Amino acid sequence: MSLENPHTLPLHGGDLIAAEARYGIPRAQWLDLSTGMNPRPYPVSGLPDDAFQQLPYLLPELVGAATQYYGQSDGIPLSGSQACIEVLPQLLPDLPVLVPEIGYQEHRQHWLRAGRMVVDYPSQDHQAMLTCIDQALAQNPHQHLLVINPNNPSGLCIAPEKLQQWARQSRGYLIIDEAFMDVMPDGSVLGNYVEPNMVVLRSFGKFFGLAGIRMGFAFAEASILAAIDEKLSLWRVNGPAQHIAIQALKDIEWQQTALQRIQADHDATLTLVSEAMALLVDARLTTDTPLFFGYTMNKTSALKVHECLAQCGVLVRFVELPDGEGMLRFGLMCGDDTDGQKKLASALKTTVSTINGA
Ligand SMILES: Cc1ncc(COP(=O)(O)O)c(C=O)c1O
Repeated sequence: MSLENPHTLPLHGGDLIAAEARYGIPRAQWLDLSTGMNPRPYPVSGLPDDAFQQLPYLLPELVGAATQYYGQSDGIPLSGSQACIEVLPQLLPDLPVLVPEIGYQEHRQHWLRAGRMVVDYPSQDHQAMLTCIDQALAQNPHQHLLVINPNNPSGLCIAPEKLQQWARQSRGYLIIDEAFMDVMPDGSVLGNYVEPNMVVLRSFGKFFGLAGIRMGFAFAEASILAAIDEKLSLWRVNGPAQHIAIQALKDIEWQQTALQRIQADHDATLTLVSEAMALLVDARLTTDTPLFFGYTMNKTSALKVHECLAQCGVLVRFVELPDGEGMLRFGLMCGDDTDGQKKLASALKTTVSTINGA
Protein backbone atom coordinates (compact mmCIF):
# COMPACT_ATOMS: atom_id res chain seq x y z
CA MET A 1 0.00 0.00 0.00
CA SER A 2 1.41 3.40 -0.98
CA LEU A 3 2.85 5.63 1.72
CA GLU A 4 2.04 8.59 -0.45
CA ASN A 5 -1.69 8.01 -0.47
CA PRO A 6 -3.25 9.18 2.78
CA HIS A 7 -6.63 7.95 1.55
CA THR A 8 -5.53 4.41 2.30
CA LEU A 9 -5.44 5.36 5.99
CA PRO A 10 -8.62 5.04 8.07
CA LEU A 11 -10.84 8.11 7.67
CA HIS A 12 -11.46 8.44 11.39
CA GLY A 13 -9.52 7.74 14.56
CA GLY A 14 -9.98 4.55 16.53
CA ASP A 15 -10.58 2.29 13.54
CA LEU A 16 -8.77 -0.79 14.83
CA ILE A 17 -10.67 -3.04 12.44
CA ALA A 18 -9.11 -1.24 9.46
CA ALA A 19 -5.74 -1.16 11.27
CA GLU A 20 -5.88 -4.91 11.89
CA ALA A 21 -6.75 -5.57 8.24
CA ARG A 22 -3.98 -3.32 6.99
CA TYR A 23 -1.11 -4.25 9.31
CA GLY A 24 -2.06 -7.79 10.35
CA ILE A 25 -1.81 -6.92 14.05
CA PRO A 26 -4.78 -8.24 16.09
CA ARG A 27 -7.09 -5.54 17.45
CA ALA A 28 -6.34 -6.29 21.09
CA GLN A 29 -2.61 -5.74 20.61
CA TRP A 30 -2.73 -2.11 19.46
CA LEU A 31 -1.87 0.91 21.54
CA ASP A 32 -4.51 3.19 20.10
CA LEU A 33 -3.52 6.87 20.28
CA SER A 34 -5.54 7.78 17.21
CA THR A 35 -8.52 9.31 19.04
CA GLY A 36 -8.89 12.31 21.33
CA MET A 37 -10.83 10.38 23.94
CA ASN A 38 -10.21 10.16 27.64
CA PRO A 39 -8.34 6.83 27.97
CA ARG A 40 -10.03 6.23 31.34
CA PRO A 41 -13.72 5.79 30.57
CA TYR A 42 -16.52 6.50 33.02
CA PRO A 43 -17.08 3.19 34.85
CA VAL A 44 -20.42 1.81 33.78
CA SER A 45 -22.33 -0.19 36.38
CA GLY A 46 -25.72 -0.77 37.92
CA LEU A 47 -27.90 -0.26 34.87
CA PRO A 48 -31.55 -1.11 35.57
CA ASP A 49 -33.01 -4.06 33.62
CA ASP A 50 -35.64 -1.82 32.08
CA ALA A 51 -32.89 0.21 30.39
CA PHE A 52 -32.58 -2.78 28.08
CA GLN A 53 -36.20 -3.88 28.03
CA GLN A 54 -38.25 -0.73 27.52
CA LEU A 55 -38.46 1.40 24.41
CA PRO A 56 -36.12 4.34 25.00
CA TYR A 57 -38.46 7.29 25.39
CA LEU A 58 -36.48 10.33 26.34
CA LEU A 59 -35.94 10.30 30.10
CA PRO A 60 -36.65 13.64 31.78
CA GLU A 61 -33.77 12.80 34.16
CA LEU A 62 -31.39 12.90 31.19
CA VAL A 63 -32.58 16.33 30.13
CA GLY A 64 -32.26 17.50 33.75
CA ALA A 65 -28.75 16.09 34.15
CA ALA A 66 -27.64 17.64 30.85
CA THR A 67 -29.10 21.04 31.76
CA GLN A 68 -27.18 20.94 35.02
CA TYR A 69 -23.90 19.72 33.52
CA TYR A 70 -23.84 22.03 30.48
CA GLY A 71 -25.30 25.01 32.32
CA GLN A 72 -27.88 25.44 29.59
CA SER A 73 -31.46 24.36 28.99
CA ASP A 74 -32.91 24.12 25.45
CA GLY A 75 -30.89 21.06 24.54
CA ILE A 76 -31.80 17.73 22.99
CA PRO A 77 -29.93 14.42 23.30
CA LEU A 78 -28.56 12.83 20.15
CA SER A 79 -26.95 9.52 19.36
CA GLY A 80 -23.59 11.32 19.16
CA SER A 81 -23.15 14.89 17.92
CA GLN A 82 -22.40 13.31 14.53
CA ALA A 83 -26.14 12.68 14.13
CA CYS A 84 -26.75 16.43 14.12
CA ILE A 85 -23.72 17.21 11.93
CA GLU A 86 -25.29 15.00 9.27
CA VAL A 87 -28.71 16.68 9.18
CA LEU A 88 -28.09 20.30 10.16
CA PRO A 89 -27.03 21.55 6.70
CA GLN A 90 -30.39 20.39 5.32
CA LEU A 91 -32.30 22.31 7.98
CA LEU A 92 -30.68 25.74 8.05
CA PRO A 93 -31.45 28.48 5.48
CA ASP A 94 -29.65 28.15 2.15
CA LEU A 95 -26.70 30.50 2.71
CA PRO A 96 -22.98 30.01 2.13
CA VAL A 97 -21.15 28.53 5.11
CA LEU A 98 -17.69 29.47 6.37
CA VAL A 99 -15.84 26.34 7.50
CA PRO A 100 -12.35 25.75 8.92
CA GLU A 101 -9.84 24.67 6.32
CA ILE A 102 -8.45 22.14 8.80
CA GLY A 103 -11.02 20.56 11.10
CA TYR A 104 -13.30 17.57 11.60
CA GLN A 105 -14.13 16.93 7.96
CA GLU A 106 -17.61 15.52 8.51
CA HIS A 107 -18.95 19.07 8.72
CA ARG A 108 -17.65 20.08 5.32
CA GLN A 109 -18.80 16.84 3.72
CA HIS A 110 -22.37 17.21 4.92
CA TRP A 111 -22.64 20.87 3.92
CA LEU A 112 -21.39 19.92 0.46
CA ARG A 113 -23.71 16.93 0.32
CA ALA A 114 -26.64 19.26 1.08
CA GLY A 115 -25.58 21.31 -1.96
CA ARG A 116 -24.47 24.31 0.10
CA MET A 117 -21.66 26.69 -0.86
CA VAL A 118 -18.66 26.07 1.42
CA VAL A 119 -16.03 28.78 1.93
CA ASP A 120 -12.81 27.94 3.78
CA TYR A 121 -11.16 30.04 6.45
CA PRO A 122 -7.63 29.36 7.80
CA SER A 123 -7.65 27.36 11.01
CA GLN A 124 -4.01 26.81 11.88
CA ASP A 125 -3.01 30.37 12.67
CA HIS A 126 -5.12 32.19 15.27
CA GLN A 127 -4.72 35.72 13.96
CA ALA A 128 -5.23 34.70 10.33
CA MET A 129 -8.41 32.91 11.34
CA LEU A 130 -9.83 35.87 13.27
CA THR A 131 -8.98 38.35 10.50
CA CYS A 132 -10.46 36.18 7.77
CA ILE A 133 -13.75 35.58 9.61
CA ASP A 134 -14.03 39.24 10.65
CA GLN A 135 -13.60 40.34 7.04
CA ALA A 136 -15.90 37.67 5.61
CA LEU A 137 -18.76 38.59 7.96
CA ALA A 138 -18.21 42.32 7.46
CA GLN A 139 -18.43 41.86 3.69
CA ASN A 140 -21.43 39.55 3.82
CA PRO A 141 -23.28 38.88 7.08
CA HIS A 142 -25.66 36.55 5.21
CA GLN A 143 -23.45 33.52 5.80
CA HIS A 144 -23.41 30.69 8.31
CA LEU A 145 -20.23 30.22 10.28
CA LEU A 146 -19.03 26.86 11.55
CA VAL A 147 -16.48 26.89 14.37
CA ILE A 148 -14.93 23.79 15.96
CA ASN A 149 -13.88 24.99 19.39
CA PRO A 150 -11.26 23.86 20.25
CA ASN A 151 -10.44 22.88 16.70
CA ASN A 152 -9.73 19.23 16.09
CA PRO A 153 -6.94 18.77 15.04
CA SER A 154 -5.32 22.23 15.05
CA GLY A 155 -6.29 22.94 18.68
CA LEU A 156 -7.09 26.63 18.00
CA CYS A 157 -9.65 28.15 20.37
CA ILE A 158 -11.89 31.16 19.94
CA ALA A 159 -13.06 33.07 23.01
CA PRO A 160 -16.80 32.85 23.72
CA GLU A 161 -17.04 36.67 23.71
CA LYS A 162 -15.76 36.72 20.14
CA LEU A 163 -18.21 34.01 19.09
CA GLN A 164 -21.04 35.98 20.60
CA GLN A 165 -19.93 39.07 18.69
CA TRP A 166 -19.89 37.13 15.40
CA ALA A 167 -23.31 35.65 16.14
CA ARG A 168 -24.71 39.14 16.67
CA GLN A 169 -23.09 40.33 13.46
CA SER A 170 -24.25 37.40 11.33
CA ARG A 171 -27.61 37.08 9.59
CA GLY A 172 -27.00 33.33 9.32
CA TYR A 173 -26.40 30.71 12.03
CA LEU A 174 -23.23 30.21 14.04
CA ILE A 175 -22.66 26.49 14.55
CA ILE A 176 -20.20 25.76 17.34
CA ASP A 177 -18.88 22.23 17.70
CA GLU A 178 -17.66 21.94 21.30
CA ALA A 179 -16.82 18.22 21.10
CA PHE A 180 -13.63 18.66 23.15
CA MET A 181 -14.76 21.51 25.42
CA ASP A 182 -15.41 19.53 28.63
CA VAL A 183 -11.74 19.80 29.58
CA MET A 184 -11.76 23.61 29.27
CA PRO A 185 -15.31 24.54 30.31
CA ASP A 186 -14.61 28.27 30.61
CA GLY A 187 -14.27 28.35 26.82
CA SER A 188 -17.86 27.28 26.21
CA VAL A 189 -20.55 29.63 24.98
CA LEU A 190 -23.14 27.60 26.91
CA GLY A 191 -24.49 29.38 29.96
CA ASN A 192 -23.50 32.97 29.34
CA TYR A 193 -22.89 33.65 25.66
CA VAL A 194 -25.61 31.87 23.74
CA GLU A 195 -27.43 33.84 21.04
CA PRO A 196 -30.67 32.85 19.27
CA ASN A 197 -28.79 32.10 16.03
CA MET A 198 -26.30 29.71 17.64
CA VAL A 199 -26.39 25.93 17.35
CA VAL A 200 -24.02 24.35 19.87
CA LEU A 201 -22.99 20.70 19.65
CA ARG A 202 -21.55 18.71 22.53
CA SER A 203 -20.08 15.25 22.35
CA PHE A 204 -20.43 12.98 25.36
CA GLY A 205 -17.98 10.34 24.15
CA LYS A 206 -14.72 12.28 24.36
CA PHE A 207 -14.44 13.42 27.99
CA PHE A 208 -16.39 10.48 29.41
CA GLY A 209 -14.38 8.09 27.23
CA LEU A 210 -17.54 6.33 26.01
CA ALA A 211 -17.75 7.03 22.28
CA GLY A 212 -19.29 3.59 21.76
CA ILE A 213 -22.58 4.41 23.50
CA ARG A 214 -23.23 7.20 20.94
CA MET A 215 -24.40 10.16 22.99
CA GLY A 216 -24.28 13.87 22.36
CA PHE A 217 -26.37 17.02 22.69
CA ALA A 218 -27.48 19.95 20.53
CA PHE A 219 -28.44 23.32 22.00
CA ALA A 220 -30.34 25.82 19.86
CA GLU A 221 -33.53 27.84 19.67
CA ALA A 222 -36.75 25.82 19.84
CA SER A 223 -37.58 25.88 16.11
CA ILE A 224 -34.15 24.48 15.18
CA LEU A 225 -34.33 21.81 17.87
CA ALA A 226 -37.80 20.82 16.62
CA ALA A 227 -36.46 20.55 13.06
CA ILE A 228 -33.52 18.39 14.20
CA ASP A 229 -35.87 16.27 16.28
CA GLU A 230 -38.18 15.67 13.34
CA LYS A 231 -35.32 14.74 11.03
CA LEU A 232 -33.81 12.16 13.39
CA SER A 233 -35.35 8.79 14.07
CA LEU A 234 -37.76 7.95 16.86
CA TRP A 235 -36.11 6.35 19.94
CA ARG A 236 -32.77 7.48 18.63
CA VAL A 237 -30.87 7.42 21.94
CA ASN A 238 -30.89 3.88 23.30
CA GLY A 239 -31.91 3.13 26.88
CA PRO A 240 -28.54 1.98 28.28
CA ALA A 241 -26.88 5.10 26.82
CA GLN A 242 -29.47 7.34 28.48
CA HIS A 243 -28.96 5.69 31.87
CA ILE A 244 -25.17 5.81 31.62
CA ALA A 245 -25.22 9.48 30.63
CA ILE A 246 -27.52 10.37 33.55
CA GLN A 247 -25.06 8.79 35.99
CA ALA A 248 -21.97 10.29 34.38
CA LEU A 249 -23.31 13.82 33.92
CA LYS A 250 -24.31 13.94 37.60
CA ASP A 251 -21.08 12.44 38.93
CA ILE A 252 -19.18 15.59 39.80
CA GLU A 253 -16.57 13.75 41.85
CA TRP A 254 -15.64 11.51 38.90
CA GLN A 255 -15.53 14.55 36.59
CA GLN A 256 -13.14 16.44 38.86
CA THR A 257 -10.82 13.44 39.23
CA ALA A 258 -10.98 12.86 35.47
CA LEU A 259 -9.77 16.40 34.75
CA GLN A 260 -6.69 15.82 36.93
CA ARG A 261 -6.00 12.39 35.45
CA ILE A 262 -6.32 13.71 31.91
CA GLN A 263 -3.70 16.33 32.71
CA ALA A 264 -1.35 13.68 34.15
CA ASP A 265 -1.96 11.31 31.20
CA HIS A 266 -1.38 14.17 28.76
CA ASP A 267 1.93 15.09 30.43
CA ALA A 268 3.16 11.48 30.53
CA THR A 269 2.27 10.84 26.87
CA LEU A 270 3.69 14.14 25.65
CA THR A 271 6.94 13.62 27.56
CA LEU A 272 7.58 10.31 25.81
CA VAL A 273 6.56 11.52 22.36
CA SER A 274 8.38 14.86 22.56
CA GLU A 275 11.72 13.20 23.38
CA ALA A 276 11.46 11.21 20.16
CA MET A 277 10.11 14.04 18.02
CA ALA A 278 13.03 16.24 19.08
CA LEU A 279 15.25 13.79 17.19
CA LEU A 280 13.33 14.22 13.92
CA VAL A 281 14.59 17.12 11.85
CA ASP A 282 11.43 18.97 10.94
CA ALA A 283 8.89 17.82 13.55
CA ARG A 284 7.36 20.61 15.64
CA LEU A 285 4.61 20.65 18.25
CA THR A 286 1.78 22.67 16.69
CA THR A 287 -1.25 21.45 18.65
CA ASP A 288 -1.47 21.01 22.38
CA THR A 289 -4.83 20.49 24.06
CA PRO A 290 -5.57 18.41 27.16
CA LEU A 291 -6.99 15.48 25.14
CA PHE A 292 -4.66 15.45 22.11
CA PHE A 293 -1.52 17.02 20.74
CA GLY A 294 -0.06 17.17 17.25
CA TYR A 295 3.31 17.30 15.55
CA THR A 296 3.61 18.90 12.12
CA MET A 297 6.31 17.97 9.62
CA ASN A 298 6.52 17.48 5.88
CA LYS A 299 3.85 15.14 4.61
CA THR A 300 6.22 12.40 3.49
CA SER A 301 7.91 12.26 6.90
CA ALA A 302 4.53 12.29 8.67
CA LEU A 303 3.33 9.35 6.59
CA LYS A 304 6.55 7.47 7.26
CA VAL A 305 6.34 8.06 11.02
CA HIS A 306 2.69 6.98 10.95
CA GLU A 307 3.63 3.82 9.07
CA CYS A 308 6.59 2.92 11.30
CA LEU A 309 4.57 3.41 14.48
CA ALA A 310 1.72 1.34 13.03
CA GLN A 311 4.06 -1.49 12.16
CA CYS A 312 5.04 -1.48 15.84
CA GLY A 313 1.37 -1.61 16.88
CA VAL A 314 0.93 2.07 17.81
CA LEU A 315 -1.88 3.83 15.97
CA VAL A 316 -1.85 7.63 15.63
CA ARG A 317 -3.84 9.90 13.34
CA PHE A 318 -2.40 11.34 10.13
CA VAL A 319 -3.88 14.65 8.97
CA GLU A 320 -2.99 16.13 5.61
CA LEU A 321 -2.21 19.86 5.81
CA PRO A 322 -1.75 22.49 3.08
CA ASP A 323 1.69 23.28 1.61
CA GLY A 324 2.95 19.69 1.53
CA GLU A 325 2.79 19.25 5.30
CA GLY A 326 1.20 16.60 7.46
CA MET A 327 0.31 16.37 11.13
CA LEU A 328 0.43 13.41 13.44
CA ARG A 329 -2.16 13.74 16.14
CA PHE A 330 -1.57 11.81 19.33
CA GLY A 331 -4.28 10.98 21.83
CA LEU A 332 -3.55 10.05 25.42
CA MET A 333 -2.25 6.89 26.96
CA CYS A 334 -2.85 6.12 30.64
CA GLY A 335 0.26 7.49 32.35
CA ASP A 336 0.42 4.50 34.71
CA ASP A 337 0.10 1.90 31.94
CA THR A 338 3.65 0.56 32.09
CA ASP A 339 3.14 -1.92 29.24
CA GLY A 340 1.73 0.86 27.07
CA GLN A 341 4.65 3.11 27.98
CA LYS A 342 7.16 0.43 27.05
CA LYS A 343 5.37 -0.23 23.77
CA LEU A 344 5.25 3.45 22.87
CA ALA A 345 8.88 4.09 23.89
CA SER A 346 10.10 1.14 21.85
CA ALA A 347 7.92 2.05 18.82
CA LEU A 348 9.21 5.63 18.92
CA LYS A 349 12.81 4.45 19.18
CA THR A 350 12.42 2.12 16.18
CA THR A 351 10.67 4.87 14.23
CA VAL A 352 13.34 7.48 14.90
CA SER A 353 16.17 5.14 13.96
CA THR A 354 14.35 3.97 10.81
CA ILE A 355 13.68 7.52 9.67
CA ASN A 356 17.01 9.03 10.63
CA GLY A 357 18.88 6.01 9.29
CA ALA A 358 17.01 6.06 5.97
C1 LIG B 1 -14.72 17.85 16.35
C2 LIG B 1 -15.65 16.68 16.38
N1 LIG B 1 -16.96 16.90 16.42
C3 LIG B 1 -17.84 15.89 16.49
C4 LIG B 1 -17.42 14.58 16.48
C5 LIG B 1 -18.46 13.48 16.55
O1 LIG B 1 -18.43 12.86 17.80
P1 LIG B 1 -19.68 12.12 18.44
O2 LIG B 1 -20.63 11.80 17.34
O3 LIG B 1 -19.12 10.91 19.07
O4 LIG B 1 -20.28 13.07 19.44
C6 LIG B 1 -16.05 14.30 16.43
C7 LIG B 1 -15.58 12.89 16.43
O5 LIG B 1 -14.41 12.61 16.45
C8 LIG B 1 -15.14 15.38 16.39
O6 LIG B 1 -13.81 15.18 16.36
